Parts: sequence; structure tokens; C-alpha cells
Amino acid sequence: MLNILKNWKNQQNAASNLERYTKEDILKGEIPAHIAIIMDGNGRWAKKRSLPRIAGHHEGMKVVKRVTKLANQLGVKVLTLYAFSTENWKRPKMEVDFLMKLPEEFLNTYLPELIEENVRVKIIGDESALPSHTYKAIEKAVKDTEQNDGLILNFALNYGGRTEIVNASKALAEQVKSGTLNIEDIDEALFSKHLMTESIQDPELLIRTSGEIRLSNFMLWQVAYSEFVFTDVLWPDFKEDHFLKAVGEFQQRGRRFGGI
Ligand code: FPP
Repeated sequence: MLNILKNWKNQQNAASNLERYTKEDILKGEIPAHIAIIMDGNGRWAKKRSLPRIAGHHEGMKVVKRVTKLANQLGVKVLTLYAFSTENWKRPKMEVDFLMKLPEEFLNTYLPELIEENVRVKIIGDESALPSHTYKAIEKAVKDTEQNDGLILNFALNYGGRTEIVNASKALAEQVKSGTLNIEDIDEALFSKHLMTESIQDPELLIRTSGEIRLSNFMLWQVAYSEFVFTDVLWPDFKEDHFLKAVGEFQQRGRRFGGI
């Protein structure tokens, strides 16, 4: 028993001492099929450099491309990125306007490359409230990539987890009211299908950058059994090494799903 404990402790120490993970290290372990990221810290990154907050968002956009490319190379199936929450409308108009232009700039710059890399673009969130230029750019990317079967790059845009759950409840209640659904037939699987993620599996790994340790209304239902990795790195500084380290940390975790 003592030996088992000693071995376990040695393994834990070895894991935490491993400063860098290479792509090859990571590919030897389990790759999370769905990774969700709360990309936080753009404003602080800009402030540290005496730049306007929007400069941080712009730098953050470039990181999106790098992380997407690496996730795809690792064989991740879905990458969900929290790009704009239903609460972000409270920010100054100039910042909101800038954030609403970013998807267009991102897609104008990178869509051909994403297509070449077999990436499929999807969106979750209330699209109806987006400015038409944002909506059109995203719809075009969704359409242009719908045949791709590589990584799903899923943008959470004007997304809120509580609203998503309320809307799923309303849709199910409507079906019960109209007599097309029995209350007894409502289970977790059916509920999940009525969320914006629909058939997308739940994230196995959730990463949040910038040292904040909260969910901020992100995928509240879907992260029930996700592993959480919090890092102090600000999103614009989050590079391939940090992503590999987060996946490496995931690979060290023992997932029990409530069992032993
Ligand atoms: C939170 O950082 C970040 C956001 C609200 C926006 C995230 C958007 C991007 C990273 C760019 C997205 C790119 C595409 C392609 C849509 P914050 O501004 O709250 O940072 P702070 O906490 O340091 O102020």
C-alpha cells in the first residue's frame, strides 16, 4: 500500500515538474474531443502596454487562429470559444462595435486557410441580435465550411448559458403543451438536444485564461463533468505551449464521473 502511494506521489510530482509538453508528448495521451475556452484578459494585456482595450482583442483574434490550427492538428473534434457573452453588451459602444467587427476580420483573413485545413465553422448564441454585417460574415463561413469534417470551430457569440437553459425548457414545455411530448420522456439526453450545442458532445476540457476562476455564464449545462484548467496567462499571450500544457494537465487528471 505504501509503495502504491509512493508511486502515485512520484507520478504527480513528475507531472507537475514537466514544464513543457511537446505535441508528440500530448499525442501519446488521450486527446479531449471537445475543448471549450473562456478567452479572458485582452483588456489587461492592452493596459499593460498602454494600448486601448481593442488592441488586446485584436491580438486575441490572432491567437484564435493559432490555437485552432494546433487543436486541429491534435485531432480535437470541437473547439468552442467564448467570443462575446450576452452580458458583454454592457461594455462601451466603441468596444462592442469593435468586437462585432472581429469575426468579419477574422474570417476575411483566415477563411481560405480554415477551408484548406478542413475546419468547419459553427456558432452558438442568439444570432438575431447581432449586427447584420457580423451575422452575414458568420453565416457565409458556416455555409462555406459545412462540408468540412475536420475540427468544428464553434464560436459562442452573444451566448449566455442561463438563457440557453431557459430556452430549452420553453421548447420542451411547448411540446408538452401541444401534446407531442410526454413529461416522462424528458431526460438529460433530450434536454441536451434542445440546447444550442444540439448534437455536439459536452466539453471534456474547459480552459480559462487570465487568472479569473469563474464560469461567467458559459456552457453551464455542458461543463457538468468537464475538467477545468485555469491559467494566469492573458489570452493574447496564450500560445501553443500553453495550450499543450493545458491538454497535458487534462491528461494527468483521473476522470471518475462520480464513480470511484
Ligand atoms: C474577455 O477579455 C474577452 C472578450 C470579451 C472578447 C474575446 C474575443 C476575442 C479573444 C477575439 C475573438 C475573435 C474572433 C475571431 C471572434 P476582457 O476584455 O474582459 O479582458 P479583461 O478582463 O482583461 O478586461
